[in-house]
Amino acid sequence: MKSAIVGTGTIAPVHLKAIIEAGGEIVALCDIECKKAEKLKKEFNLQSRIYPDYLEMLDHEEIDVVHVCTPHYLHAQMSIVALKRNINVLTEKPLCISLEELENIKEAQKSSKAILGICLQNRYLPANLLAYELLKEEKIVSVKGKVLWSRGEAYYRDAPWRGKWATSGGGAMINQAIHSLDLILWFCGMPVKIKGNIANNNLQDIIEVETKAEFKMFGTYTAEFFASNENSNNNPIELEIISNNYLIKIVGRDIYVNNCFQNLPNLGQLRGKDYWGAGHQSLIKDFYDSVLHQKPFSIGIEEAKKALIVIWALYKSMDKEIIIDKE
Ligand SMILES: NC(=O)c1ccc[n+]([C@@H]2O[C@H](COP(=O)([O-])OP(=O)(O)OC[C@H]3O[C@@H](n4cnc5c(N)ncnc54)[C@H](O)[C@@H]3O)[C@@H](O)[C@H]2O)c1
Repeated sequence: MKSAIVGTGTIAPVHLKAIIEAGGEIVALCDIECKKAEKLKKEFNLQSRIYPDYLEMLDHEEIDVVHVCTPHYLHAQMSIVALKRNINVLTEKPLCISLEELENIKEAQKSSKAILGICLQNRYLPANLLAYELLKEEKIVSVKGKVLWSRGEAYYRDAPWRGKWATSGGGAMINQAIHSLDLILWFCGMPVKIKGNIANNNLQDIIEVETKAEFKMFGTYTAEFFASNENSNNNPIELEIISNNYLIKIVGRDIYVNNCFQNLPNLGQLRGKDYWGAGHQSLIKDFYDSVLHQKPFSIGIEEAKKALIVIWALYKSMDKEIIIDKE
């Protein structure tokens, strides 16, 4: 499989290692700052060609899979271009930052032979796979989610796109807590209504987007969710799900079912930061398997849009109840 990575910043090495493990050959790296791509090439002793422009890269290379690891506002346009050329594309979360972009991606997917996958890698962690299996046939009663992470001034100064609505599409929710919200919606289904608020308490002079979010969701179950980037450290995420038969607690990689700790398969050396959820390796291997055997990938547009629709409703809420439009 011939692979390429667009955007060779913080997350790129995690993709790079996982591609190599999945048997991919990294034929090209692309970054508007070529120096970053050069550094990665040298560090991993690659033979890849380097491009400052992704269109030029796609014009010159035969690529089976392109990995989109760029700022959020570029995901839609880069994924659409790849789909139109029938190149399989694995994009980092979020799939896109607006409803209009979402519709455009859906259109491009309809007429493409290529597979589009989205990196919501926490779905591949053993604790979360177990929770999904246990909850499949359950009636969900209530859910709690808590994400206490730390993103200070340096995180935003290092990459200013992260702090702006136009380039990031939001803050703590769309960039960090999206993974935990995605798990809740995967386990429990979509809510009908949401009510909550977002705030920026500590970085008002530095970023536009939220550093904190708090909300409730209502439907066939009720949920409470709290996310903050204002914490002094990165805690493991906490989820609690009550169903007719189970009380499930997930703390980082661990899971307790009806108060009993569950022994999980040892995944060996995991890449990425533990609190992000280190499932990139498993997700990328599964994506490559889908491409190789031309079978659907588990996290496509329909799955990736769930958390986005809830987040966009939250951003409108400002403490008012908002009906969630699932289409
Ligand atoms: N799944 C996860 O757990 C996880 C963790 C971290 C980051 N991410 C995601 O990865 C993506 C990148 O985040 P990051 O922290 O690595 O950002 P970053 O700013 O460190 O890296 C982005 C890179 O893209 C390059 N770039 C910008 N515009 C470009 C263009 N037009 N063409 C080519 N390259 C361009 C930048 O020069 C930079 O090197 C984001 O979507 C982020 O949400 C996901």
